[in-house]
Amino acid sequence: MASSSPLNKLVLIFLACFVFAFSDNLVAGDSDKVKLNLYYESLCPYCQKFITEDLAKVLDSDLLTITDLKLVPFGNAEVSDNSTVTCQHGEEECKLNAIEACAISTWPDPMLHFSFIMCVEGSTKDWESCVPDPTSLKAINDCYSGDLSKKLILEYANQTLSLEPKHEYVPWVTLNGEPLYDV
Ligand SMILES: *[C@@H]1O[C@H](CO)[C@@H](O)[C@H](O)[C@H]1NC(C)=O
Ligand SMILES: *[C@@H]1O[C@H](CO)[C@@H](O)[C@H](O)[C@H]1NC(C)=O
Repeated sequence: MASSSPLNKLVLIFLACFVFAFSDNLVAGDSDKVKLNLYYESLCPYCQKFITEDLAKVLDSDLLTITDLKLVPFGNAEVSDNSTVTCQHGEEECKLNAIEACAISTWPDPMLHFSFIMCVEGSTKDWESCVPDPTSLKAINDCYSGDLSKKLILEYANQTLSLEPKHEYVPWVTLNGEPLYDV
């Protein structure tokens, strides 16, 4: 697969959604933004490639101003009846999914948490070096070691498992709720 083709496809579909969203409405409000959801998991090579290459390019451009980006770190993990989460790439993936969920909660601004997640997925051995200041590091660590991270992950599990149609692989991308196959 040529590395530019998924991005080109993404951009084209983006523009199509954009034109559609604005066709009967000249004033842009939040509700007119293209809803781009990424269902992914940490440590998955194709997710890392999508985040650090394709999505990074989209967000480097002006497309972010028309995009409502939502990252959902759960992917192919599973929740058992007793709410224990099991991850495809083991404990380390579960930990990084939770750290990333905590980062999203700490920095609701997509540009801030996306930059962090892009950094972590680019160098998963040292996520702490991706945190810009000690206050944020403490917030993320408090979230991770407390009940908040479990609550966030169960919420992301719910969002992932409620997808219609169901996700078939990761990364799974939806634009305005419709799956974008083959990214
Ligand atoms: C939860 O369930 C899993 C399997 O379904 C089991 O392996 C694990 O020990 C259980 N954990 C607790 C805390 O009961
Ligand atoms: C997600 O949460 C809603 C509301 O609590 C619940 O009705 C639904 O069954 C949950 N879905 C899954 C797949 O866990």
